[in-house]
Amino acid sequence: MSRLVHVLNGPNLNLLGKRQPQIYGSETLADVEAACRTLAGELKLELRFDQSNREYELIDWIHAARETAAAIVINPGAFTHTSIAILDALNAFDGIVIECHISNVHKRESFRHHSYVSLRADGVIAGFGTQGYALSLRRVAHLLDAKG
Ligand code: DQA
Repeated sequence: MSRLVHVLNGPNLNLLGKRQPQIYGSETLADVEAACRTLAGELKLELRFDQSNREYELIDWIHAARETAAAIVINPGAFTHTSIAILDALNAFDGIVIECHISNVHKRESFRHHSYVSLRADGVIAGFGTQGYALSLRRVAHLLDAKG
């Protein structure tokens, strides 16, 4: 059985470390990817890690994951709050879906309180900083181990 996890990052996350560090911290997305790769090795997960500012590219990766991945960890950025298209794509994926936000979206503007992606996500994490990615991978590994 596949143990491939595709970690997807949406718009503006390429600026992690530079963009509003008081909210998102000073680690870069490359730092997050490196930490995820180390942990994935420990958890015996295979990892793909991508970022795009384009909605269609995220959707195409979700479609590709249908054939290959056991799980998707997604930080959809602002598409969280707007994209029915990403929700529809995730609804066509049969594996585990974890929604991961660096900031605590519930403590922020009210337009960040609603997530289309949460209608599909098996778990949601928010406000744990970039540690949320590691916690998401741990949850995926736990669920895959439980499936056997
Ligand atoms: C975010 C929260 C979103 O509201 C925001 O648009 C982002 C990042 C987070 O990781 O906290 O771009 O998904």
